[in-house]
Amino acid sequence: MLILGIESSCDETGVALVEIKDNERASNSTPQTWPELLSHALHSQIALHIPYGGVVPELASRDHIQRVVPLAESVMSLANKEFDEIDVIAFTKGPGLAGALLVGAGVACSLGAALDKPVMGIHHLEGHLLSPFLSRDPPSFPFVALLVSGGHTQLMRVEGVGQYELLGESIDDAAGEAFDKSAKLLGIDYPGGRALSELAQLGDPSAYDFPRPLLHSKDLNFSFAGLKTSVLTQCKKLGDRLINERANIAASTQAAIVDVLVRKSLKALNQTGLSCLVVAGGVGANKSLRESLSVECKKIGVRVHHPELEFCTDNGAMIAMAGAMRIQTQRELPSKIYSFEVNPRWPLDQINV
Ligand code: KG4
Ligand code: ZN
Repeated sequence: MLILGIESSCDETGVALVEIKDNERASNSTPQTWPELLSHALHSQIALHIPYGGVVPELASRDHIQRVVPLAESVMSLANKEFDEIDVIAFTKGPGLAGALLVGAGVACSLGAALDKPVMGIHHLEGHLLSPFLSRDPPSFPFVALLVSGGHTQLMRVEGVGQYELLGESIDDAAGEAFDKSAKLLGIDYPGGRALSELAQLGDPSAYDFPRPLLHSKDLNFSFAGLKTSVLTQCKKLGDRLINERANIAASTQAAIVDVLVRKSLKALNQTGLSCLVVAGGVGANKSLRESLSVECKKIGVRVHHPELEFCTDNGAMIAMAGAMRIQTQRELPSKIYSFEVNPRWPLDQINV
């Protein structure tokens, strides 16, 4: 069974094709093998938005329109398959930019109607959450997931496909936003997180003692808005000297973010008693976070699963995979209702509602 996945929630257009082996379909809720990624293709809009310092929704939608069909043609040809061999089309239904989501929904529904095949709307964060299943060494349920994307920082207890319990989340800025906003203060172009982490490698993480909000709170919530304000205050204080201190500021900012993410993840593992941690979302590509989590989790006998680097940030493979895993663990196929419906604000714990 072939599932085409389309991601268009923000500034990346991603398309991918995954396959469920016939004998692994809906046989039981924990199949022996998970679906296999056959091909994927991605177009990043970063260059398009750089002059504006952030994502311009209208430009994002227009660019998705131009990219989706050629990317879909390319994944079909990479996998040596024809469009009429597709069985289901999965697309990102939300959360994300309404216009951008509508492009993916529109193409998925049109293709579904033309091929007379079902379509399914996938939650973008479920895609991130299940992205480690694209690797050769996938995790086993249940696990704790640290979801760190541009707009979300959440700790989830994941019992199985579609069974997600929110343990804690950011009450203001997400970790990705803290990276991006601090990067902007250092004169780094949007989206900034990755470039800030590269600059951080040249600096001293203990040079500035930036706040670690809610580090010792009993709950599993996060707060990163104060960090950005502290970085701003420090940059102003440095004035002309900032130019020589950029690497130290970057390293100290990253250290504060990583410290909080690691401590709260360990707390979630302790509270749930689970011994497997999955890290997903764009910030999950951060080298320092990956290293710190690996070191700390090893000490307490917890296995950490990261998606491959290319599948940390937005991509079509995670959407195709989430759709395929849903089909594989449920007995019913999605419907042939082509409603173009999107949900720009969709909490992950309401995914089944
Ligand atoms: O998951 P994602 O691609 O998009 C959303 O769903 O939001 O995450 C994008 C976020 C941005 O904030 C970006 O700066 C951050 O992930 N990011 C990083 C790194 N790579 C991407 N942050 C820190 N270090 C990185 N290496
Ligand atoms: Zn994302």
